[in-house]
Amino acid sequence: MVETGKINLNSIQKIFPPRSENASEVEAVHQVSATIKPGEFIALIGPSGCGKSTLLRMIAGLELPTTGGILLDDEIVTAPSRERGFVFQEANLYPWLTVEDNVAFGLKINNKVKNKKAEIQQFIELVGLKGFEKSYPYELSGGMQQRVSLARTLINYPKVLLLDEPFGALDAFTRMRIHDELIKIWQERKLTTVMVTHDVEEAVYLADRVFAMTPRPAILKEIIDIDLPHNRHRESSEFIALKTKVLKALNFQD
Ligand SMILES: Nc1ncnc2c1ncn2[C@@H]1O[C@H](COP(=O)(O)OP(=O)(O)OP(=O)(O)O)[C@@H](O)[C@H]1O
Ligand SMILES: [Mg+2]
Repeated sequence: MVETGKINLNSIQKIFPPRSENASEVEAVHQVSATIKPGEFIALIGPSGCGKSTLLRMIAGLELPTTGGILLDDEIVTAPSRERGFVFQEANLYPWLTVEDNVAFGLKINNKVKNKKAEIQQFIELVGLKGFEKSYPYELSGGMQQRVSLARTLINYPKVLLLDEPFGALDAFTRMRIHDELIKIWQERKLTTVMVTHDVEEAVYLADRVFAMTPRPAILKEIIDIDLPHNRHRESSEFIALKTKVLKALNFQD
């Protein structure tokens, strides 16, 4: 089988025009080059406002680079596509739709699926929400809502999963549980995953490689290999050493 989901970032730069007459332009991302292998899990980490979301949105095709180019499987990214599923910080569910209808919404214009009902059920189960098919978003916790959002994205079988701080609003226990579920899904589906996070522990727990970005404009300062098998132990000396390495790359510890 041919492996898909390779991403090339070729000298990506993003400059936003001035917001008002007296403002100046903002360079959010500066000359980022990297290759992300099919099936790899990358964590993008950097200080607030540095340009992480901008970089992720460019991979999604939601923004275009000012200079440079992004390739997905050697094809240039020019617009959003269901091949690149995006999960935002907030779940953004439709409050008037049930869990199953929210998940089904992702499928609406996709006619390829033969048995929609079975497919929807499969994805609800995949994210651990069996029994909540008929619930409405207001009846769910934040973590459950974020799982619905993940199911709604995964049901399109994206080649690439893009996550913009999707668990930032969750409490520590829920976050840890969702981390393990995400790893399971990622391993099963062999999805290339790029996740933006502020959280060094989250990055080291999940990623194959951590991309440490500088303050704005975001420059790819250092790539840290996380050469630990899953399930990782947050208290192990290897884990803590890698956390220190990431923190050093971000200049928080000398
Ligand atoms: N559409 C836009 N127009 C003008 N400036 C923008 C636009 N989008 C982002 N910016 C600016 O680009 C910079 C980077 O923003 P971005 O959202 O990528 O940062 P971030 O690293 O994701 O921050 P956070 O961690 O707070 O989410 C910021 O200074 C922001 O104000
Ligand atoms: Mg952001």
